[in-house]
Amino acid sequence: MKLPIYSQTVLTDSYGRKIRDLRISVTDRCNFRCIYCMPAQGVIWKRREEILSYEEILFLTEIFVSLGITRVRVTGGEPLLRRGIVGFIKRLSAIGGLEDIAMTTNGYFLADFAEALVAAGLRRVSISMDSVAPEIFASMTKVSALDRVLDGIRAAQASGLAPIKINMVVIRGVNDAEIVALAEFARTHGLIARYIEYMPLDGPSQWSREKVVSGKEIYERVNAVFPLEPLQRHRISDTAKRYRFVDGEGEIGIIAPVTEPFCGACSRIRLTADGKLRTCLFSLVEHDLRGLLRSGASRKHIERAIVEAVLNKEPGHRINEPDYVYPERTMSCIGG
Ligand code: 5AD
Ligand code: SF4
Repeated sequence: MKLPIYSQTVLTDSYGRKIRDLRISVTDRCNFRCIYCMPAQGVIWKRREEILSYEEILFLTEIFVSLGITRVRVTGGEPLLRRGIVGFIKRLSAIGGLEDIAMTTNGYFLADFAEALVAAGLRRVSISMDSVAPEIFASMTKVSALDRVLDGIRAAQASGLAPIKINMVVIRGVNDAEIVALAEFARTHGLIARYIEYMPLDGPSQWSREKVVSGKEIYERVNAVFPLEPLQRHRISDTAKRYRFVDGEGEIGIIAPVTEPFCGACSRIRLTADGKLRTCLFSLVEHDLRGLLRSGASRKHIERAIVEAVLNKEPGHRINEPDYVYPERTMSCIGG
């Protein structure tokens, strides 16, 4: 087979997008059952031997970093469910060349882990928080756990994690009445509220276009109560449009992948817990790095496989096309 020639130190796809961000899912398991993330019939967890060991993840991450990745986000499932996660973060932070290590968590175990995570080198977290009303929170996550998550947020703040973002997936008729309440909660607690349009990643049974609340509508609803003004994106590849409150108290982010796709500036790839490289959240193909690793492929060979996969990165998602095809895996397996 003829392999592509690559001399660049930055992974670049065929559309010229530079790939800088790697999302690593360390487990497909979760103690929540968020309605937008898991299919109604549940999922079958992977067997332990299917999941990459921490050594394998670290080995691959070093390769990714040598190819130009500078930022890593650790996700799941719920990453804090995996044993040894603190030690893993510590080893991850020891990889030279990584500028940023973040985590996405449901917050349930954060009170127990926040301090140790900071000591291990974690700098910031995003916490799922779909409502500040306990019943709505429970109806979305299927767990009555708002109190624990609030404890987790307090612990995260006390341990110095910053900024702390709270993510709300907005679903019409479920939690959209909570949009302003989340902004108010975030403002008064020094957190950044981030609103995410509901994406079709939960298996074909649940999502429908009518349930999507557009970023524009979210903006209007918050702005009506707490006037907003736009802020510069930190990077062009950032998913969130940022706004600050005109009265000076903090900022929010609105992520609108459905109504305002930002694929053109995407800098992200994903490694699933079972060692598949996904070049898009919505990829229909995966690249089996675990198979390569475990068959004893050389480092060079793995590098080439990564470079080649990135060259084939999809131009963008096709949510808005009539022939949209649901990826086989739901968000809980892919990692947010
Ligand atoms: N649509 C939008 N965001 C989602 N997430 C999970 N599933 C979806 C979906 N269908 C996001 C949530 C969660 C993170 C892990 O992924 O914000 O916090
Ligand atoms: Fe778990 Fe996060 Fe999925 Fe909710 S969104 S089920 S917390 S992985």
